[in-house]
Amino acid sequence: MKIGIDKIGFYTPHIYVDMEKLAEARNIEPAKFTIGIGQSQMAVAPITQDSVTLAANAALEIIDDEDREKIDFVIFGSESGIDHSKSGAVYVHQLLGLNPHARAIEVKQACYGATAGIQMAKGHIALNPDSKVLVLGTDIARYGLNTPGESTQGAGAVAMVISANPKIMVLENPNVYLTNDIMDFWRPIYSDKAFVDGKFSNEQYILFFNKVWEAFKAKSGLELKDMEAICYHLPYTKMGLKALRTVLDEATEDVQERLLENYQVSTLYNRNVGNIYTGSLYLSLLSLLENKDDLQEGNRIGMFSYGSGAVGEFFSGTLQPNFKQYLNIDGHRSLFNARKEVSIEEYEKIFEETLPTDGTDIELDINRDPASIVLSGIMDNKRQYVNKKR
Ligand code: HMG
Repeated sequence: MKIGIDKIGFYTPHIYVDMEKLAEARNIEPAKFTIGIGQSQMAVAPITQDSVTLAANAALEIIDDEDREKIDFVIFGSESGIDHSKSGAVYVHQLLGLNPHARAIEVKQACYGATAGIQMAKGHIALNPDSKVLVLGTDIARYGLNTPGESTQGAGAVAMVISANPKIMVLENPNVYLTNDIMDFWRPIYSDKAFVDGKFSNEQYILFFNKVWEAFKAKSGLELKDMEAICYHLPYTKMGLKALRTVLDEATEDVQERLLENYQVSTLYNRNVGNIYTGSLYLSLLSLLENKDDLQEGNRIGMFSYGSGAVGEFFSGTLQPNFKQYLNIDGHRSLFNARKEVSIEEYEKIFEETLPTDGTDIELDINRDPASIVLSGIMDNKRQYVNKKR
């Protein structure tokens, strides 16, 4: 049975920071951010967006009535969860008006969560071929103002419907995965900002990529020449390039050229959004699919997922006939074009504006946020969500 990505949606908040201006404000050479890190703009989450609203907004654009009926499993991949107990999936399920006879869970392993969700979804569809699974990768990356990680923040979500006979990409076997207990990046329960050993995290990312790629080649018999492109988890757009460069000499010059060119296309959206953790790999896939004109049915895309701590996985997928027809290219162009730049002072103010953690109620001004689904406040320790379209 063919199982894979039937639909893919994306949402990022309506405001962003220009990376050159951020560099100037931090007394850093702008080229370090735009070339050395490879980021041009960084999405900023207003207080009315959290991991639930980002995910629900990403899903809203792809879900139709048939999906509402057939989705019987919602998997919320995130490391910015809003509750230690209740899953974000339950809120999204309600906000989208999905069939009550559904499972709804949250999956956590840093940026790897959505990949774990997709692989679980594959198993679920294999057992229940008529059903569909909604997989969400949704996060707000926060390291703190004036920290080395600041230039690699971001916010957004990718939503995917996984089904049999998918319209966009069939997920292939085999998959190769790897776990090793390391402290490259983590966020203790008491902190709303990540802790990170930056250089070590870069090294481990590359080491994980090399290990899973070697094992994948041995298990699948596939090589670089069999990949039209490789999409990477992109904490910042230079990172995947560093990993790709370590294996490029395995291929002929033509293949190297193709992979490098397609890599650039696969980073266009991420370059203007920043790290969205669980959704980053799938935003890179979306960037490739929506911005590369000559991709063909049957083209194979390699996928490298990395979640600090750490779990890595390499797998592949093949593009389906007329896949482009099922993408929301104009919708995503409009989403980017409608965004507004905020000054560094405004960004700092928004960054520091956090929700109360002492049980105090709060009512938020939802009119300043153009998103369809927003957080309107907290009452009696319960987050209040509004779907403006319902
Ligand atoms: P840093 O110390 O500020 O930067 O931290 P740097 O000194 O390493 O410089 C970065 C690059 O800019 C270097 O390029 C410099 O040469 C270059 P490289 O040698 O690495 O290719 N550079 C310049 N280029 C052009 N013109 C200039 C210039 N100056 C310098 N004038 C770091 C960078 C990424 C470590 C930091 O931002 C950080 O800690 N970020 C967070 C951690 C991270 O993103 N790690 C990535 C791998 S781990 C991962 O992907 C998982 C993650 O997503 C979390 C999860 O799984 O949940 C993070």
